[in-house]
Amino acid sequence: MARAQGPPLEQRRLGRTDMVASVLGFGGSEIGYQQVSARAVERLLGGALDAGLNVIDTAECYDESESLIGRAVGSRRREFHLFTKCGHGQGWGRADWRPPALLASIERSLKRLATDHVDLVQLHSCSLEHLRKGDAIAALERARERGFTRYVGYSGDGEAARYAVECGRFDALQTSVSVADQEAIELTLPLAAARGVAVIAKRPLANAVWRYARKPAEPYYQTYWTRLRALGPELLGEGDDAGATALRFTLAVPGVHTAIVGTTRPERWQANAALLRSGALPANEYTRIRARWAEVARPSWVGQT
Ligand SMILES: NC(=O)c1ccc[n+]([C@@H]2O[C@H](COP(=O)([O-])OP(=O)(O)OC[C@H]3O[C@@H](n4cnc5c(N)ncnc54)[C@H](OP(=O)(O)O)[C@@H]3O)[C@@H](O)[C@H]2O)c1
Repeated sequence: MARAQGPPLEQRRLGRTDMVASVLGFGGSEIGYQQVSARAVERLLGGALDAGLNVIDTAECYDESESLIGRAVGSRRREFHLFTKCGHGQGWGRADWRPPALLASIERSLKRLATDHVDLVQLHSCSLEHLRKGDAIAALERARERGFTRYVGYSGDGEAARYAVECGRFDALQTSVSVADQEAIELTLPLAAARGVAVIAKRPLANAVWRYARKPAEPYYQTYWTRLRALGPELLGEGDDAGATALRFTLAVPGVHTAIVGTTRPERWQANAALLRSGALPANEYTRIRARWAEVARPSWVGQT
């Protein structure tokens, strides 16, 4: 097995679970939404597993993402922690939080992922109102009793994420944390750490929006692009420096255990792992980025789904 040069990538225990995760995980939305070929996904995930990846995150609605992952690395299932989500079995925008629909979606995910269980199923960004009703959470607990998943989590932001941590029924929180999305650092992460809840940072590079000189056409990228413009170009620097600072910032946030970076490129995971091998973000850099946020962020700069 071809191991990367240099010190091994750091691993962290995911809260009170028994999972120990590479700090750099893999986020599976882009391979689905951007229709990456099965061959490229095999190279991407096979190479990353060889180099130290052990966390793969996907969802029921990322187009072909689950099937691509199942096909590429289903035969290596014991080498990684596998996370998926439920709630949008018929596609994003057609949410269904009723327990039978959630359980059917989870069973379909297992087939697509070529496995008999995942390590974590997350409610995929349902509202606070749906969380409070409790039956969607009960459906996840039923999935755990049936052996479909070992742990249950909530993936989302803001007050709903706060409630998910407070209610004590979730093992994990997946939430947006990055230089352009710092709300969770005070709203949810201290409580998550105190309660032993695993924290998975989604959108950890703020979609690398520093790559765009002009406002991107893709609406998903626009909020972070506007925020980074307001925070100023000196916040991150350029090119690889920007990627290294952004990624190391997210991983320096107290309470974060793993950052699931999305990518379409077979070589990207190893390149990002190399950025991390250069060491942790210095404390003064972390303080500088937090101070800039405190100075510039508006009340509307809330956690983005
Ligand atoms: N509601 C939810 O539950 C929810 C919502 C959003 C995301 N997520 C999860 O979070 C994961 C990550 O989110 P995301 O993919 O939207 O955002 P992200 O990880 O912040 O950004 C991914 C983008 O960054 C680029 N990139 C990666 N490393 C880079 C580097 N060193 N320099 C420059 N560009 C780099 C990738 O481009 P290349 O293709 O060129 O590498 C890709 O376009 C998703 O895949 C999904 O699993 C969950």
